[in-house]
Amino acid sequence: MSATPAIERILFTEEQVNARVKEVAQEIDAKYEGRAVKLIGVLKGSVFFLTALARAMESPVKIDFLAISSFSGHDHGRPQGMVRIAKDLDEPIQDEDVLLVEDIVDTGFTTRYLLQTLAGRGPRSLAICTLLDRTVRRIVQVPIDFRCFEIPDRFVVGCGLDFKQLYRNLGYIAVMNPERD
Ligand code: IMP
Ligand code: MG
Repeated sequence: MSATPAIERILFTEEQVNARVKEVAQEIDAKYEGRAVKLIGVLKGSVFFLTALARAMESPVKIDFLAISSFSGHDHGRPQGMVRIAKDLDEPIQDEDVLLVEDIVDTGFTTRYLLQTLAGRGPRSLAICTLLDRTVRRIVQVPIDFRCFEIPDRFVVGCGLDFKQLYRNLGYIAVMNPERD
């Protein structure tokens, strides 16, 4: 019996994820040419990807985290895509090369909000790296500088992505079977 019956199929194996993370780490190293990079992770989904990426990078790396709350359209009549910072960064980012690390860019609301907020703090540069990109669901356009995988319009878990806080620790990325959770 499977310990994870809610998994429908594996999209990217652990080996594929690890290999792709290393490739993207090299792309990032090439862009920053030995300068220190501040990786900013969005709790909690990006933690697994951020640490794997940081381990694979050769550039000097600093890390900081923030947490957000987002509201869907039916919550208390708030507009779709409303996001706020629930836990801010510990340190300023002024004059630093900042790389926002995301688990997934879906509608783009979260990423756009974070980019606007971080841009206002005077970083030397600001770029985005995402593990997964689901462009078919995009509502607001955001520039993605680095991406590991494009995915189809299915709910996925693993490598930091959760369903009801479960499955973040899977080493692979899988499509959920919502009827079997
Ligand atoms: P966006 O603002 O619509 O781009 O929302 C992105 C956020 O929604 C991500 O950071 C995830 O926390 C969550 N999310 C979107 N799609 C998935 C998925 O397929 N699995 C798990 N979480 C998801
Ligand atoms: Mg989530």
